[in-house]
Amino acid sequence: MRMLTSSDEDIRIAAEAIKAGRLAAFPTETVYGLGGDAFNVSALARIFEAKRRPRFDPLIVHIADLASLDMAADVGSLPPSVRTKLCVLCRNLWPGPLTLVLPKRPSIPALATSGLPAVAARFPSHPIAQKLIRYSTGAVAAPSANPFGYLSPTKASHVQEQLGERVDFIIDGGCADIGVESTVLDLTEEPARILRPGGAPREAIEALIGHVEMGHPPAQDTPRPAPHSPGQLASHYAPKAPLFLHNDSDMAGLSFCPDEAYLFFDEETRGAWNMRNAPNAGGDERIFTLATGANTGTADKTLEAAANLFDILHTIDKLKPSAIHAQKSPDSGLGAAINDRLMRAAAKRN
Ligand code: TXA
Ligand code: MG
Repeated sequence: MRMLTSSDEDIRIAAEAIKAGRLAAFPTETVYGLGGDAFNVSALARIFEAKRRPRFDPLIVHIADLASLDMAADVGSLPPSVRTKLCVLCRNLWPGPLTLVLPKRPSIPALATSGLPAVAARFPSHPIAQKLIRYSTGAVAAPSANPFGYLSPTKASHVQEQLGERVDFIIDGGCADIGVESTVLDLTEEPARILRPGGAPREAIEALIGHVEMGHPPAQDTPRPAPHSPGQLASHYAPKAPLFLHNDSDMAGLSFCPDEAYLFFDEETRGAWNMRNAPNAGGDERIFTLATGANTGTADKTLEAAANLFDILHTIDKLKPSAIHAQKSPDSGLGAAINDRLMRAAAKRN
């Protein structure tokens, strides 16, 4: 594995590797991706292998301009009303943290979509990601650059620690801004359905195209092979320690236990909890806050919380606590994505 900088020269090295069927991890605005040529079956196989990812979990195809969507998706086969929605979404939310599930073109290998008739396409806004895609094959398949089921990487060092020699190159582009993965929106059914909440809030999508469904469709409505979107597997995005998710008052009421870790949403609940547990728990290194307000001031706290989520969970994991107690986020904005990841981390216990 070789660590690369974000210089043009280094991005070209990674792009050449992708063209040659090898893998390169790269930053996006959401999390780091593990990229390979979306048209090359052996590169796709390497991605599944490197992540130890089951072949039933399809990959997102990343593009670097709107025109390239045609390489991956058969937009013409959509009904006109859905095409209109697609245009509105692309115009307003692309490039950005939104992945669209659309009818697949035959040129995309079945391995990329795990045999599904639909492909997930994403146009990231991160300039390094865009250059890498443009300098390589124009369509880069990239899951999050972590072993299957484990925490997503928001820094190059996370990728290095987790995948090591299983990846050829890592481009270090600093911290991912958003910190949770893209929202996966399925446009092959009406109304459209959010298969995974993420960086594009439901509110923003509904303001553009009206009501969208959430989560798995009822079983009888699923003509495709299950799971519909395996990022929805109950246990996913999981740290090593068992995680317990609490509402505000339960969290404030917990008693401090020195071998456990505590993850507060904001300083308010942490303050209430400190009062109960002081002086024991004052500056303990196992106590964390997702939104301290330090960087965002009065802005939406869920933005800061999402950006910190995976990095803090990585840090907590290294401390090897016997359990992690996490406070639920408010459900608005990126809070839905934060709670989704925390719930799936908690599901590992069962
Ligand atoms: O923000 C992101 O989306 C990041 C960065 C690297 O772009 N990528 C990412 O990829 O999170 P991954 O593989 O970790 O998650 C992709 C999600 C999974 O839940 C997968 O099941 C779903 O997208 N997905 C991919 N293709 C699909 C398809 N054809 N139909 C339904 N769901 C699909
Ligand atoms: Mg992932």
